[in-house]
Amino acid sequence: MLRYFFIAFLLVMVAVVSLAGFRGSKSALPPIEIFPDMDHQPKYQPQHPSGFFADGRSARKPVDGTVPMGYAMHGSYLQAGAKNGAFEPAGFTNQPDYYNTGKFGDSYGDGFPVEVTSKLIARGQERFNINCAVCHGKVGMGNGVATQYGVAAVANLQDDRIRIMPDGQLFSTITNGKNTMGAYGPQIALDDRWAIVAYIRALQKSQNVKLAELPEAKQKELQAKP
Ligand code: HEC
Repeated sequence: MLRYFFIAFLLVMVAVVSLAGFRGSKSALPPIEIFPDMDHQPKYQPQHPSGFFADGRSARKPVDGTVPMGYAMHGSYLQAGAKNGAFEPAGFTNQPDYYNTGKFGDSYGDGFPVEVTSKLIARGQERFNINCAVCHGKVGMGNGVATQYGVAAVANLQDDRIRIMPDGQLFSTITNGKNTMGAYGPQIALDDRWAIVAYIRALQKSQNVKLAELPEAKQKELQAKP
């Protein structure tokens, strides 16, 4: 039995080698590709001409008024009609400074390099709900809807560990990701990332406020309750 197998195997080998040839042998003919994968696609390579368009170029000019992602431009081009549409993000990480990385040299910094205003926090809320709440949940408890569909071990942003984490480290986590969490630096503009950090601080405060820190009227209201 085994003998027939070896004979058959040898014949197949000889057939394949004689058909497909040795790799590296020279031939004017195109190589025989047994597994062409996706080598040949109906596509244009960069800078190659095209007979399809009147100007002969395959690369098309962007539509008039196109704004490259992350570039600041006056007006509300990014989210026309959005709640915080007038906010202008200032581009993406491209410098080694604190504003761009959340770090001073090798260590995380603390504090905000942008002014923390209610507008910034509102923007952060909007961006957090869009980008983070699916996993971390709207209050940051690590119970977003994705956790019901298999995204495991999502961090609870209300943990003491994360409450005492420097602002720069939160910023850096958003920018570069951590373990199973992906990096959001390439998708979320710089100011928006700082806005999200500010909003996370607001969320954390919302779950850890002391009675004495509340306005007096609110204190009375709460104390009146049984
Ligand atoms: C696809 C799900 C997902 C999304 C979306 C997501 N995260 Fe996470 N995040 C995780 C997981 C999972 C972890 C735990 C990673 C680990 O194992 O340390 C985590 C951890 C974190 C931590 C803790 C890091 C540490 O040092 O322990 C922070 C802070 C955080 N995420 C912030 C954010 C923010 C802000 C956003 C939105 C810009 C976001 N995440 C979006 C899944 C997600």
